[in-house]
Amino acid sequence: MSTRRYALPVEQTKWSLSTSATVVFDWDYDPSQDRLLGLYERGKAKQWDANERIDWSIPFDPTSPEHEPDHFLPLFGSPVFEKMTKAERNEYRHHVTAFNNSMFLHGEQGALICAARVVETVPELDAKFYAATQVVDEARHVEVFSRLVREKIDLAYPISAPMKELLTAVLADPRADIVQLGMQVLIEGLALAAFALGRDSTTHPLFRAINAYVMQDEARHVAFGRIGLRDLYRELTAREIAEREEFVVDACHLMRDRLMGEEVFERLGLPVRDCLEHVEHSPFMRGFRTQLFSRIVPAVQDIGLCGPKVRRAFEDMGVIQFEAVDLDQTHARDDRVAEQVEAADAARVAQVAQTIEAGEQ
Ligand SMILES: [Fe+2]
Ligand SMILES: [Fe+2]
Repeated sequence: MSTRRYALPVEQTKWSLSTSATVVFDWDYDPSQDRLLGLYERGKAKQWDANERIDWSIPFDPTSPEHEPDHFLPLFGSPVFEKMTKAERNEYRHHVTAFNNSMFLHGEQGALICAARVVETVPELDAKFYAATQVVDEARHVEVFSRLVREKIDLAYPISAPMKELLTAVLADPRADIVQLGMQVLIEGLALAAFALGRDSTTHPLFRAINAYVMQDEARHVAFGRIGLRDLYRELTAREIAEREEFVVDACHLMRDRLMGEEVFERLGLPVRDCLEHVEHSPFMRGFRTQLFSRIVPAVQDIGLCGPKVRRAFEDMGVIQFEAVDLDQTHARDDRVAEQVEAADAARVAQVAQTIEAGEQ
């Protein structure tokens, strides 16, 4: 991290943590799990190049309501927001955009590291094959978000303390399945819901495309987590399941209660307590935070971790209604939306070319 306002002190750009993973080889080369090989084939076929698929020439003003209208900003409707001038609101918008996308960026690097870990630790070769395609997917996502933050947003935030805590919980745990549970079901589930909200609420073509294309890959990642864990968790003892359920509840509480973006209030010198109070209680933000669990709840249920303790936690959090969500249908829709965005993009590029040609003539 070294360019422009993106610059961070060196001590914030390097981070390491020790883990005790058991690396597993598989010398049995006969294909075994058809579903995983199908996912692997899809993973290979659906790779895309961010340099080609995304039109980076689209102008983007990170302070403009065009990509993030006022009513989507966390402080909208609060006395703090009411007192802001137009310029202050635009600066605040810039920081919210920078913070959110910086967290996506750091999260994508977390996903990259976790996917590599799955390659090492998952026992079956076909699962290693699939996970290897995910490593490449996540590297491409890091590429996309780092380019977006550097070239278009021009402002970055370091990884937040709760996100670091979440990554540590996932990566430092000696149980191999926790990487998949924590990253592919919980963190990626949350990210997918956030990308969907971004994709469906913005009218900016660059933002919409980035969210839609990344989501197309993430749907495969969540599917992989579900397939692998569903089989594994059928074999575990009641006690082992209870431990995983506890992990789910703790991680969900952390994601709901602590990912509040207070770093933005601190950096802008806003009254942090008042701002947090608003973010916690405003109906819009409550709805937003609830929506972030729309993909986690059905996935947790699908892998067999929705025992009484988890159900009670989901009920208390007001998110239990998402157990009715059909994830396969939702992912199929994500795929369709990405293709529509791509078609609309191609039409826009063709129209621009036509206009230029007409002008030249
Ligand atoms: Fe990703
Ligand atoms: Fe992913």
